Amino acid sequence: MSIATSTHPTVDAEAAQTRGQIHLGVFFQGVNFSTVWNAAESGSQTEFESFRRLIQTAERGLFSAFFLGEGLRLREHLGAIHALDVVGRPDAGIQLAALAAVTHRIGLVATQNTTFHEPTALAHRLGTLDLLSEGRAAWNIVTTDNAWTGENFRRGGYLDHADRYTHAEYVVNTVKALWDSYPADAPADSPDAAAWSAPGTAESVVTADRYTSVAAVSRVPRSAQEHPVLFQAGDSPEGRDFAARNADVIFSTHSAFEAATDFAADIRHRTEAAGRPADDLKIFPGQEFILADTEAEARDKARWVRESQVTPQTALAFLEQTWGRSLGEFDPEGPLPDIPSVAEQTSETRGTGFHGHRAAEQIASWRALSEEKGLSIRQLVIHLTSGRGFVGSYSGVADELLRYAEAGVVDGFNVTPYLVPSGLDDIVNGLIPELQERGIYPTEYRGETLREHLGLRRPLTRRHLA
Ligand SMILES: Cc1cc2nc3c(=O)[nH]c(=O)nc-3n(C[C@H](O)[C@H](O)[C@H](O)COP(=O)(O)O)c2cc1C
Repeated sequence: MSIATSTHPTVDAEAAQTRGQIHLGVFFQGVNFSTVWNAAESGSQTEFESFRRLIQTAERGLFSAFFLGEGLRLREHLGAIHALDVVGRPDAGIQLAALAAVTHRIGLVATQNTTFHEPTALAHRLGTLDLLSEGRAAWNIVTTDNAWTGENFRRGGYLDHADRYTHAEYVVNTVKALWDSYPADAPADSPDAAAWSAPGTAESVVTADRYTSVAAVSRVPRSAQEHPVLFQAGDSPEGRDFAARNADVIFSTHSAFEAATDFAADIRHRTEAAGRPADDLKIFPGQEFILADTEAEARDKARWVRESQVTPQTALAFLEQTWGRSLGEFDPEGPLPDIPSVAEQTSETRGTGFHGHRAAEQIASWRALSEEKGLSIRQLVIHLTSGRGFVGSYSGVADELLRYAEAGVVDGFNVTPYLVPSGLDDIVNGLIPELQERGIYPTEYRGETLREHLGLRRPLTRRHLA
């Protein structure tokens, strides 16, 4: 497979050509039980070699982007670090800078929080990554949904939901203003200090909200793609509107066809209401792919994946979040615990965002389900956690993706691999050629930058300069 370089075509013309294409990104979330870490082929959670192999496979398959999640505090379960999660959350900016050196075209997406990071630090870190990677950086904007994470910071628990998005908007606007400190024709990459400091070259950014103030000029010049691409992950109505006003790509959880169709209609409506063309905000749901030559083999593989993901220990820990107490005395292969929960709300594994349901109601519905289907604790957890994902033959899944491409309800998927670092091999070797045959997957990297490859228009703040 050749990875072509090309000249810089007009980005608006490219935007039209991307319709009906499915891009792929890879999301390394960091904390989850969807990655199987104890299989023979599993790699390390922190060693560079794991990430190098994963990202180079993705680039061989012309993936658009490599995403890293962010966790600003390790999760805890029943008072201890959650042993089932990945322990080790390398800094995304540093990790992606290292990966920039071993890749050429793939986008590098750092999830970074607006509630706790300062705008000048964000502008500098992401702007630096964009320069080092020659226009391949992106920022996945998140706000983080729990005060518990905030205890790791001087500000403590900090902001409620509404304030988080108001502050996020301030942070994003400030970061963009910093990136735009230098006019489009400024000799920002000139080694000549006089050119940099000439009067009128750089505009000082002076902003403040209730929590932060800034008086600064960007410490790095604009990159080959003007500034990093903006992704956003947050699903509330406020989060969706925030994305419609600010982001280039929304990272969603709505991957099933019906849900993706409804989500696309909702996002297009919000994007237009924000004064942008409806297709201006690209949609990338997260998705798992379990593939084989035949449907039957894929189903067998899926069984292995589910049983490896949901170990007996994982199954108990999953239920403990709802029961609010240790369930160590119960057999994971036996029936649901016959005791009530001690928690009113389901939130025992701190930092998961898995909360907000009333525990008693949750338990009652699980009991009914497990009785109806005759499920053990572990079988119930497998049932509850295995709804998502494409499971099938290469050609069958390619046909399914064709349906999405024809309906135009997604622009891509963020693959969450169940194995690291080998989890993309099947996709790259078996699925992508099928997608290319159907004309719905790129056959080369387009342009030099992530913005060009995704067919995005100019950054919102700079369009009037076109
Ligand atoms: C697909 C997806 C991925 C996310 N990844 C992260 C992450 O890596 N780190 C993080 O702190 N929050 C992450 N979040 C959570 C967001 O920070 C946000 O706090 C949460 O979704 C609540 O916002 P909302 O009420 O608008 O949905 C993610 C959310 C979504 C939907």
